[in-house]
Amino acid sequence: MPVRDPHDPRLVDSFGRVASDLRVSLTDRCNLRCSYCMPAEGLDWLAKPDVLSDDEIVRLMRIAVEQLGVTEVRFTGGEPLIRPGIVGIVEATAALRPRPQVSLTTNGIGLARIAPALATAGLDRVNVSLDTLDRERFHQITRRDRLPDVLAGMAAAAAAGLTPVKVNAVLLRGINDHDALPLLDFCLAHGYELRIIEQMPLDAQHSWDRAVMMTAEEILAQLRTGHTLSPDPVARGASPAETWLVDGGPARVGVIGSVTRAFCGSCDRTRLTADGQIRNCLFAREESDLRAALRTGATDEELAGRWRLAMWGKLPGHGINDPSFLQPARPMSAIGG
Ligand code: 5AD
Ligand code: SF4
Repeated sequence: MPVRDPHDPRLVDSFGRVASDLRVSLTDRCNLRCSYCMPAEGLDWLAKPDVLSDDEIVRLMRIAVEQLGVTEVRFTGGEPLIRPGIVGIVEATAALRPRPQVSLTTNGIGLARIAPALATAGLDRVNVSLDTLDRERFHQITRRDRLPDVLAGMAAAAAAGLTPVKVNAVLLRGINDHDALPLLDFCLAHGYELRIIEQMPLDAQHSWDRAVMMTAEEILAQLRTGHTLSPDPVARGASPAETWLVDGGPARVGVIGSVTRAFCGSCDRTRLTADGQIRNCLFAREESDLRAALRTGATDEELAGRWRLAMWGKLPGHGINDPSFLQPARPMSAIGG
């Protein structure tokens, strides 16, 4: 068993990976009800007092950036834009030194209104989730008729310079399984970068079924019916997306084969939930509570030490493909993507 080097300040794990990309979930609530994520009636949301305050979040991010080597911060949810303090949180993040890259994953609702303020506050980029361009199907998947808001949000983000605007799509067999190509064509026309994600067992209803999942292989085959894809010469690094040049480039498309082409070996992520728990993996079944320590007077050094310990125990992989795999208790909406 390797032993943690007590002089290494970074978030290293026992397999040698170093986490420098922090995902911060700002709320577990959402204004959509994507069927692969939540039931129609929503979930039992976190109680307000359990959710970290803006100041508490900023303090933890400062520790991460100044002491733990975090260089990238991505805000997620639920839907991060429904957090009232979002612009101030972004501003405080961009003011940290060394300045981290600051991005956000949103469903796009409300983005049209807030994109300029986010850009001014220092946000660098956005990822917008969009699974189909068909209004009826969008309504069916998300249970809300909000496609026009999402499209307006993307356009506003691009206009505000939050680029490259990336588009995240999940394909569901029998529902939007033929939407890969229309989504790619739409993204090419608007200068957005499409990322198609294999559906993962992280839904609150525990209804994920491997046999129903659209695989990276199938997604690529579909994209290739309309375009030539060639391997991206840019090194992949820790990116979960495998990217291809479309028709020789410079446009790109990415496929995130979380299940069939797992990338756990190069994972560089650490996660903070809205209620102050560190998760060393999306699929972790254990968390480390920073909130209690934070609220009972822990010093920055103590919090940094707890965070390091939480990451050291990261497992080598998500284990989805093992017969003994158990889905984590927290659904995606309460972890952040
Ligand atoms: N599998 C894959 N992607 C998912 N997302 C939400 N739930 C799942 C799941 N079970 C996506 C959303 C969003 C991002 C945060 O993760 O569509 O783009
Ligand atoms: Fe909301 Fe994202 Fe879940 Fe859809 S996938 S319900 S947008 S948190």
